[in-house]
Amino acid sequence: MPDNPPGRFWLPSQPNNPELVAFLEMLEEGVLVVDAARAVHYANPAAGLLAQSLDDDPEDASNPACLLALLPDMLFACTASERWSGDVRDVRSALVFAVRRYPWLVDGKPAHLLLLRDVTEARHRQNELRRRHGELQQAYAHLASAQEQLLQAEKMASIGQLAAGIAHEINNPIGYVHSNLVSLRDYTSGLLELIHAYEHALAPKLDETTLAALTEVRTRIDFDFVSNDLPELINESREGLERVRRIVQDLKDFSHAERKAGWRRSDLLKGLESTLNIVWNDLKYKAKIERQFSPMPLVECLPSEINQVFMNLLLNAGHAIGERGTITLSCGHNAARNEAWISILDSGEGISAEALPRLFDPFFTTKPVGTGTGLGLSISYGIVKKHGGRIEAANATEGGAVFTVVLPVSQPERVKD
Ligand SMILES: Nc1ncnc2c1ncn2[C@@H]1O[C@H](COP(=O)(O)OP(=O)(O)OP(=O)(O)O)[C@@H](O)[C@H]1O
Ligand SMILES: [Mg+2]
Repeated sequence: MPDNPPGRFWLPSQPNNPELVAFLEMLEEGVLVVDAARAVHYANPAAGLLAQSLDDDPEDASNPACLLALLPDMLFACTASERWSGDVRDVRSALVFAVRRYPWLVDGKPAHLLLLRDVTEARHRQNELRRRHGELQQAYAHLASAQEQLLQAEKMASIGQLAAGIAHEINNPIGYVHSNLVSLRDYTSGLLELIHAYEHALAPKLDETTLAALTEVRTRIDFDFVSNDLPELINESREGLERVRRIVQDLKDFSHAERKAGWRRSDLLKGLESTLNIVWNDLKYKAKIERQFSPMPLVECLPSEINQVFMNLLLNAGHAIGERGTITLSCGHNAARNEAWISILDSGEGISAEALPRLFDPFFTTKPVGTGTGLGLSISYGIVKKHGGRIEAANATEGGAVFTVVLPVSQPERVKD
């Protein structure tokens, strides 16, 4: 190393080029010339300052050789013509330098020209930007999923309102058709009685021609069959109407829109049965329903929302059953914890180990595109959580999946505000 003023190293290979040296000394970027044996042949003042920022030993404060310790071996392994660039970090000071390596010659032998810049602030800002960007992305995803859930909940609510509105409208005509049918049954039985009475009274007194004409009419209209069938037809119509009435009532119970919405003590089993009737069309060809009910108290809840949970679970159970199977409904009351529970067990495939921890995630679905949105369980989870309860999902020992909804029988005052 030539004899230089402290902190200054000259370029021995360029002793006669004072302009170049003056230029290098003005640069804000640290410049080092290092030979293959990692000996420093030149360092500009900026490199000295960088070294100073690393080293807290004032004796050795501006020795740029200490910068070399930061550089990776792969940089020194570069071939004569190779370039290298990258960031290096000093663990102790946490400073980050951007380093670029160019081929150089010292006394005609391959060496390294190194440019170093302190990028600690810039990298810090970049990292901070990246972190904030990640946070924003997460918040955006969260908002998007919340919006989807809201839309879904709104859709359910408006379907409920629509159903309740239709149910209300259907109720009136059903009412008078039902009462008319009762009158019709009474009138026809009276009329038939009268016809039979006339027949008995007049038949012996009629001449043969009139009797033959009456018999012809009687045969043509199949009077005996009609007089037997008429009351049966009316009864069947009444039964059909009864069924429509029950469905309408189920729709009303399901949506609860005709009552003032809000928390009330409700019979969960009634809600479960109404909901089962609503989704029965989807289940009837594949599932047999078994009931294992034990007594349970009325549960303070938002009934239409709990019915929505039952609907999601019943539909999922139906989907899980391939061809034919059984859905077992059970319920019970844990008096010690004052909790009521309802469980829905199906005889389907069960839940795979990968799906189990993700069931309640919004948009998690294993159903084909366009079939499931993957929101059913996440919405149900939210509803049950709002009630201070929980949904447990498991694979049953006898095969199939079992979902248990556990709800507190009473709600603390603050929840109902
Ligand atoms: N009874 C069940 N047996 C097996 N897997 C089930 C059962 N219930 C739910 N799963 C699994 O959980 C996933 C999520 O259910 P979730 O109800 O949230 O959405 P989905 O039924 O796929 O769609 P949708 O939004 O229409 O309800 C289902 O795709 C299915 O893989
Ligand atoms: Mg579902």
